Amino acid sequence: MAENPLLPQFRQAGQGQVFAHFDQLTPAGQQRLLAEAAEVDLAEIAGLTRTLLAAGGSAGADLAGLEPAPYEPRPEHGGDAAAWAQAKAAGEAALRAGRVAAFTVAGGQGTRLGYDGPKGTFPVTPLQRKPLFQVFAEKLRAAGERYGRPLHWFIMTSHQNHDATEAFLAEHRWFGLDRGRVHCFRQGRMPAVDFQGRIMLETTSSLALSPDGHGGSLRALDRSGALDLMRSEGIEALSYFQVDNPLVRCVDPAFIGWHLLHGSQMSSKMVPKAYPEEKLGHFCRQQGRLVVVEYSDLPLAMQRETTSDGQLRYRAGSIAIHVLDREFIRQMARADGAGALPFHRADKKIPTVDAAGRPVKPDRANGVKFELFVFDALPFARNPLVIETRREDDFSPVKNAEGVDSPQTCHDDQLRQYVRWLRAQGAAVETDAGGRPRLTLEVAPSFGYDEDSFAASWASRPPRAITDGLYLT
Ligand code: UTP
Repeated sequence: MAENPLLPQFRQAGQGQVFAHFDQLTPAGQQRLLAEAAEVDLAEIAGLTRTLLAAGGSAGADLAGLEPAPYEPRPEHGGDAAAWAQAKAAGEAALRAGRVAAFTVAGGQGTRLGYDGPKGTFPVTPLQRKPLFQVFAEKLRAAGERYGRPLHWFIMTSHQNHDATEAFLAEHRWFGLDRGRVHCFRQGRMPAVDFQGRIMLETTSSLALSPDGHGGSLRALDRSGALDLMRSEGIEALSYFQVDNPLVRCVDPAFIGWHLLHGSQMSSKMVPKAYPEEKLGHFCRQQGRLVVVEYSDLPLAMQRETTSDGQLRYRAGSIAIHVLDREFIRQMARADGAGALPFHRADKKIPTVDAAGRPVKPDRANGVKFELFVFDALPFARNPLVIETRREDDFSPVKNAEGVDSPQTCHDDQLRQYVRWLRAQGAAVETDAGGRPRLTLEVAPSFGYDEDSFAASWASRPPRAITDGLYLT
């Protein structure tokens, strides 16, 4: 039988090791390996080996001319209250007109949480133990009802969790959303390479492939047909958020309005960093362009710099909430060379096989994964904008099994949010020193998913009493 053309192509690219065990594989194993190899862009891997590996490590971020990025402060921090009100009205009008859809990136591996299953299926609310996907679905459903226009919801999955995600949503009947408006699609994958740039095998019949980072969402939105669907539905922008953050306002009218009124192609939310070492990316400006510098790339001395009024100089922390224009996404998805998102390198322990094909579980980093980051699109956007948000309204991610950003901290933050909403309506709620209510309660998004919707439900159907186990729905 003639040799599959992929074999000589890989050999010529110095990647012949991929097929080292090919002759010993079953026909099904050979098919699988060939299919995965066909996904690999050999020129891209060669380029990344030159740029990210050849120097023996990453050179670190270029900090020349870096300065803090300007941002639109909230009214309580000196922002223009009339402009915020105008933005909110513009965002509400866009939501009523169906010009915006929601977008969740859910293709990550969630290794730090160590939960078996797609992260979106992780139970997160204090009383009902609703999974993350349900929280977002209920918020979107409620927002759709409020604006008289059901929202489309795009969800990016990975090869690993796509089927499980779709099955979970179907099993729960899309949590009350119209199934025709829930769109799951897979992100792309990249092969891991060893420190010499050789593509690694996970088993003799499969490559060590992993998701191409949340920045892979731009290409995946294009490739999957999501952008075309948006165009045919008259959807101009996506409200982007991460699967691990149940506090997020999935569609925030003020944020959307700022984006639209500013003529921005990509906008982002910031929170003031809580302390200098907090692990958030920093919104900065460099050569007139908006950039995000990761916490690991900004020297600690700079993270600790303060201004004359005692505030952190680099205080604008990125919480991974963005609005992106549809055609800007298309432009970035199709760009190449210097106009495209750059890959980042992450050195990892990558399970692989030895020369005899036996499994190897490394105890230290033995290779490199390549990932794209969505915030790297900001420098390419026209009129990019950063606006401030209140952390307690928008951000409490579940990243780790314990400690910071864990199920426990997120649970407490949800309870604190309910307390704020209740107190704003004049309800008396006793709290402990940490601001948590002394009783456990939960507010369903159908009752309130932000201050305004909560206040509206409270006015029409207030609970008789606030008792332990109260579920407002
Ligand atoms: P994280 O950076 O927290 O990564 O992703 P992760 O893979 O989920 O978790 P760890 O690092 O293995 O513990 C932030 C967000 O970006 C999504 C995640 O699903 C999460 O919503 N993401 C990340 C993707 O959709 N694809 C990726 O390739 C990476």
